Formats: sequence, structure tokens, C-alpha cells
Amino acid sequence: MEINVENILRKSFLSKEELILLLGSTGEEKKQVFELAQQVKAEGVGKKVYFRGLIEYSNLCSKNCFYCGIRSGNPRYARYRMTDKEVMEAVDFAYESRYASLVVQAGEQSGKAYVDHIESILKKIHQKTNGELHVTLSLGEQSEETFRRWFEAGAHRYLLRIEVSNPALYSRLHPMDRHHSYAKRLEALEMLRKTGYQVGTGVMIGLPYQTLSDLADDLLFFHDFDVDMVGMGPYIEHQDTPLYQYRDQLLPLKERFDLSLKMVALLRILMKDINIAATTAMQTIDPQGREKALMAGANVIMPNLTPVKYREDYLLYENKPCIDEEAAECRGCLEARIFMAGDEIAYGEWGDSAHYKKRTRNYDQK
Ligand code: 5AD
Ligand code: SF4
Ligand code: FES
Repeated sequence: MEINVENILRKSFLSKEELILLLGSTGEEKKQVFELAQQVKAEGVGKKVYFRGLIEYSNLCSKNCFYCGIRSGNPRYARYRMTDKEVMEAVDFAYESRYASLVVQAGEQSGKAYVDHIESILKKIHQKTNGELHVTLSLGEQSEETFRRWFEAGAHRYLLRIEVSNPALYSRLHPMDRHHSYAKRLEALEMLRKTGYQVGTGVMIGLPYQTLSDLADDLLFFHDFDVDMVGMGPYIEHQDTPLYQYRDQLLPLKERFDLSLKMVALLRILMKDINIAATTAMQTIDPQGREKALMAGANVIMPNLTPVKYREDYLLYENKPCIDEEAAECRGCLEARIFMAGDEIAYGEWGDSAHYKKRTRNYDQK
């Protein structure tokens, strides 16, 4: 069958079959996909890039995902939790640098003491920054009550990647127990939406057993769930994980990167007004990975604020960049990179997605 990419791209909605074709596009057709994504980005979200200072709060995790370097079954990393003082230093840096927004990320932990502690940190951040610094949490699956408490303590957004939207593939990438259930993950995403958060999710690209049909379904999942934000990037093997045994069956790194860029571009075409992150994993494969993701349609970057002494112990995958760079170095580096991509940093702006603003009323914009 002859495919006419131009005709497909002119349509207002892309079907699964069309997405599969476009994910497999090369040469001139691929170029057309990226051109359209750029155009849609310019019209939908413009040139502004929003910073989210990233605090990798703790590498303690109760889960054992087969792909992740900090899984509980990996004894290699010293487990840490940042002190409140260290968290507040990172908060000060973000506030003074006018980042306007923070992401607090950690492995999945639970228990009353932990939930209380996160709540107290959220209140401290709110107090110290007069509620001006917005906080995104990325702390895994929690109960509805915990989600609500953290929301009421000042968290605005929550990131919980579905990882893969195909339940059968999900069960091949996680231990088969009730702690790693696709149904529970989906339920958690629904609870987050109900609680009032701006909801972000995402997937890994280029996993063993993953097909273009799975990736097309991932894009449609984001669309059908009507998410506000997406962070996705290439899967990168880690030698201390069970999935490492499939390393010979993976797409070459360059192709995984290319496919990830196409996913960003097609998502931008499909969802014109959401926030899409140019993820660190993109830069792990290509030194200009994040700039290329911006040019393909992304509009959010997460500069790392984690104290350097912990960075070696937060390696979800191998060759993660910025292991030795202090927060101020990453800020300078990213300023130059974003400038090169032709975009501008929206300092001092929360950068809530236009999508979120549209789907909620009484929105108080900064
Ligand atoms: N390669 C790429 N991304 C990974 N993540 C975990 N392990 C890997 C890996 N090996 C991603 C997961 C998780 C996020 C915090 O990091 O998608 O949700
Ligand atoms: Fe824990 Fe997240 Fe890694 Fe899974 S992906 S082991 S939940 S940190
Ligand atoms: Fe950290 Fe470039 S973003 S050094």
C-alpha cells in the first residue's frame, strides 16, 4: 500500500494504523512528521520552555521493576534519603533561580511516618516560598487518602508513568504480585485525576517485546486518558536488572532515540496543548537529545537539583548525564542548550499546561 503521509497528517485525528505507519516513517516522510510537529508546537504552546527543578529525594524503593537500576533487589547502591535541610537548600536554589516549579521524585515508599514527613516538607516549601513555588510529586502509587493529604499540603501536579499501556507487556516487565499490578496503577492515575492534580504519565520506548503497535496504543492512551503532561524516553538497559539479559534483542540505541523523538512529535500532533518533557534519558543516548526533543515538540525540562553526592546512587539506567554537575552548572548548560534549540526559558512562570487550564474552571494563573 502506498502511504501518503501528507494526507494522513492533514487529518484532525490519527488512527492506530496511521500512527503505526508514521512511527515507522523514514526519510522525506519522517521529515514531514517533524515539520508538522514543530508547526503544531508553535501554534499550541509557543517557544516557551518551563523549568522544573528535579529533587531526587530518595532511592529507597519497595518495588522491584525488572528494568530499573534502583529496584529493591539491587544491593549495589547505597540507599539514601535527603535531609530536610538538603531539600530546603534545593528549594532555595530553585526559588532564587526563578524556576517557579519543582519535582520531588523518589522510589515508591509508604507508611504513616513517610506520608507525614512528605506532608511536612510540602508545608515547609509552601511556607518558605509564599506558595509561589509549585510542586510536582513523583512518589509512586499511594492510597487515595495520601494523594489527598499531599494535595491539600500544597502539591499541584503528580507524575505517575503507566510505563507501558499494554497490560500483557506490563506483566512481563514487573514481578507477578499484587504490588506490581497494571490495574492498580491505572486506578492510581484515576484517583490522582479525581483528587484534583494536574496529571502526568509516560512510557519507556524501545523495551524488549515492545512493538510499534504497542507504542501507537501508548499515544492513544495518553489521548483517551486526557492527560495534562507526559514524560517519556528511551529504555536504557542497566546491568544490575533482570531485563539486561535481553540487551541483544533491543533496537540499536540510535534507533531507540529516533523512535523516542517520533513519539514526542506524534504526541504533540495528537495533543496540541499539553506539557511534554524533554527527558534526561534522551540526552543519555544523544548529547543533544534534549534539544532535539524540544525541536520535536517538547516544552518542559527538568534541571537536576539533587546534591551531587547522591547522584551516583540514583541511576535508574546506565550513563545518566549530569552526575558531577552542580545545580548551577546544569542551569547554565541548559540555558545555552535551549537557546540553541531556538526556544526561550519562561523564568518565573508556573507553566501549567494550557490543556489543564481548559479542562478546569476558576483557574488562577501566574
Ligand atoms: N531506562 C529508562 N527509563 C527508566 N525508568 C526506570 N528504569 C529505566 C530504564 N532502565 C523510568 C521509569 C520510571 C522513571 C522514574 O524512570 O519510566 O517511571
Ligand atoms: Fe522503584 Fe520506580 Fe524503579 Fe520501579 S521504576 S523499581 S517503582 S524507582
Ligand atoms: Fe546538567 Fe548539562 S544539564 S550539565
